[in-house]
Amino acid sequence: MPKPETTQLKHIIYSSRPVGFTNNIVEQIFSSSRKNNPNVKVTGLLIYGADLYLQLLEGPTTAVEQTFNKIKSDTRHDNIQMLKESFTNRRIFASWTMRQQDLGIMMWDEYDLKNGLVENFSPSQAFNVFNNLSREFDQFDYVHEPK
Ligand SMILES: Cc1cc2nc3c(=O)[nH]c(=O)nc-3n(C[C@H](O)[C@H](O)[C@H](O)COP(=O)(O)O)c2cc1C
Repeated sequence: MPKPETTQLKHIIYSSRPVGFTNNIVEQIFSSSRKNNPNVKVTGLLIYGADLYLQLLEGPTTAVEQTFNKIKSDTRHDNIQMLKESFTNRRIFASWTMRQQDLGIMMWDEYDLKNGLVENFSPSQAFNVFNNLSREFDQFDYVHEPK
């Protein structure tokens, strides 16, 4: 398998249920991510909303596992469900310490969300959510790129 980086890359996708969701909590989470993730070369995207966190973490294997272990013991969420855990040869959010995405953009029905829509995603369905978001951004970026 081709390795564009010198260390083996891993990605993890998990979902969880916010406990005591507020803007302030979201800000604290992204503030920790901006502080810690660059030091360990972790990138990714966190979809956040009152009913759901859905996060993709990508980077060197040990760094991703250690970051996820910290996140797992965080009391600001519970019901953590691993949706995908695999080695990969490319990052999809390489230029982000942790991209933020409001859950509202996903147009998922609130009733379906409460009833486990995301928790029941297959690994490839979960990955497609992030892959599609990364493509949408790329197109947006491209349109605004000066020729
Ligand atoms: C849904 C969720 C996502 C998180 N994502 C990250 C992350 O990507 N990176 C990170 O360092 N901390 C993340 N955190 C926060 C960690 O659980 C933990 O509070 C933080 O890493 C502690 O950082 P500190 O030791 O620098 O205070 C997340 C927490 C939650 C609830």
